[in-house]
Amino acid sequence: MTAAPEAAPLAAGFAAAYGRAPDGVWRAPGRVNLIGEHTDYNEGFVLPFALAHGVSVAAARRDDGIVEARSLQVPGEPVSAPVDGGPVVAEGWPPERAWAAYPVGVARVLRAALGTGGASLLIDADLPRGAGLSSSAALECATALALCDLHGVDADRRELAALAQRAENEQVGAPCGIMDQSASLLCTPGNALLLDCRSGLSGQVPYAPGDADLTLLVVDTRASHAIGDGDYGRRRAECEEAAALLGVPALRDVTDLAGALRSLPDPVLRRRVQHVVTENHRVEAAAGLLRAGAVADLGAMLNASHLSLRDQFEISWPQADTAVDAALRAGARGGRMIGGGFGGSVIVLTAADRADRVRDAITAAYAERAWTAPAFLDAVPSAGAHRAA
Ligand code: GLA
Repeated sequence: MTAAPEAAPLAAGFAAAYGRAPDGVWRAPGRVNLIGEHTDYNEGFVLPFALAHGVSVAAARRDDGIVEARSLQVPGEPVSAPVDGGPVVAEGWPPERAWAAYPVGVARVLRAALGTGGASLLIDADLPRGAGLSSSAALECATALALCDLHGVDADRRELAALAQRAENEQVGAPCGIMDQSASLLCTPGNALLLDCRSGLSGQVPYAPGDADLTLLVVDTRASHAIGDGDYGRRRAECEEAAALLGVPALRDVTDLAGALRSLPDPVLRRRVQHVVTENHRVEAAAGLLRAGAVADLGAMLNASHLSLRDQFEISWPQADTAVDAALRAGARGGRMIGGGFGGSVIVLTAADRADRVRDAITAAYAERAWTAPAFLDAVPSAGAHRAA
């Protein structure tokens, strides 16, 4: 995968498309979640870090109430829409405009909440879409920062994360939690972000696998996923149902797991609760291990998380299970699926001098099954969203 695109060519592309220079270029990263999957909307804990890969947006202020979006990844007509408007999802946009629901949705939500206005946008991404690396959140956050800067609004990053999430929920119609937008806006280089999704409080946890001669591989399993396709929302609804039956505001509040499991008659809900409650404990344990400088021991946490996501939350997929199995057989310390599930990426923690062997083993396992070859990406803990030019 290519390195982060330079801002200058994007600015030149903007000038060619719009006949004027942009006012600036903003960039927001995708994320890898080390651990804490499907805990965010259960008001629990997550531990993501920002990738060097992300989305860049060259933008110029407009005062005619219009947001116009073009993307280098989506050839075709630009999408123009008023910034004053209801949910994009209710407007029945054709599939070829669907990508633009994210920037337009953000523009509408920010307009209503912060009084920002319109903009002309040119978008470029070096993050694969549907790979579970939060390309949507990166697009939302880069757009949100651009709009705030262009219209002179000084918004708190936690508030911006919440507004970007609202845009995805209400404008795009995808019921995501707060993790991805928070990671994109709040992460810092060399650290993972320990975020309490209930209070919004967060802290940076030093994360430097290289210092321990370890490598974290991101494996794009090439089976793509979408948050809006129903399975994610069903898991969310199951968690909410279980919390209501248990009489707690959210599954984060379950302290007596054994008692909770005994009191739930439905085996499906029992499995969901088992995952969420144990996953929250794994996040805290993993953060403790990182703080102690015991990165290698994270491997066991990743394995436990994967088994829980596969068997209790039931959101893994064959390419993810095969990648994790092949990596472990090749001597990796641990691995797990990441993101919403049903497709996307896997992370694998391995001794750096075994990384090639692990990559080859995963590639060979895919070839044996005649699956599309996996893609690998370096996962370097990088900066959160920023103005790039
Ligand atoms: C997606 C969502 C997040 C989170 C993860 C699962 O990435 O956007 O809010 O729920 O899935 O942990």
